[in-house]
Amino acid sequence: TRKVTTHRLIEMKRKGEKISMLTSYDFTTAGIVDKAGMDVILVGDSASNVMAGNTTTLPMTVDQMIYHARSVVRGVNRALVVCDMPFGSYQTGDTDGVKNAIRIMKESGCDALKLEGGVEILDTVRRILDAGIPVMAHLGLTPQSINKFGTYAVRAKDEAEAEKLISDAKALDEAGCFGLVLEKVPAILATKVTKEISIPTIGIGAGNGTDGQVLVVADMLGMTQGFSPRFLRRYANLNSIMTEAIGHYIEDVKNGDFPNEKESY
Ligand code: KIV
Ligand code: NA
Repeated sequence: TRKVTTHRLIEMKRKGEKISMLTSYDFTTAGIVDKAGMDVILVGDSASNVMAGNTTTLPMTVDQMIYHARSVVRGVNRALVVCDMPFGSYQTGDTDGVKNAIRIMKESGCDALKLEGGVEILDTVRRILDAGIPVMAHLGLTPQSINKFGTYAVRAKDEAEAEKLISDAKALDEAGCFGLVLEKVPAILATKVTKEISIPTIGIGAGNGTDGQVLVVADMLGMTQGFSPRFLRRYANLNSIMTEAIGHYIEDVKNGDFPNEKESY
């Protein structure tokens, strides 16, 4: 199986083939996701919520992202592995941004990076691209700016914010990004952006008009509880499957059924 490349993703958009993307944070899960045939695996800074139990993505560090990305890379053969640059690692300027970008690429072995923001980070994005690192952009609801937004509500519902998102998307496309995540924006806007730029758009809560879709693996497998935005489709209820299996194990330990003779040396 040939490794998915950023060029292949742009070709998929041209041909109208939808792009599948899902997060992973560890070797074992990434191996399953890759073998299932995923096009892109995102080592999201949502690891902050899913892996570490934080309420925002802000605490994530470069070292922690490298640890997760390195683990994922070891489990993947085919999918393109994209790693989020964490909060604080690129917002201080293009020199810091390109340094941290190079560090993540070297130490994790991932294929590309994702950064949140538009014109504000355009110089940094250009420097990272100039270093030979593929960049995926991320607009709409950008969780690293949650303290500015104050809410996880849908973004770009008003005309001014929608206009800015469109011009940001065009600027990021022209700068040479290979893809764009659109998070929690009206479907009509995401469709419009998708038609107006040459690089693939990957939506999460952005409707069906984007070139691909992304979800957080623990959410779509039903491991996480109490997070039910309308965009989330649950493909399994691993929480109840795990709870049941773990309950059986406890029972077997308590009643002395485990281990039996065949499970002993
Ligand atoms: O960190 C993450 O999981 C993400 C996706 C939701 C796009 O950035
Ligand atoms: Na993220």
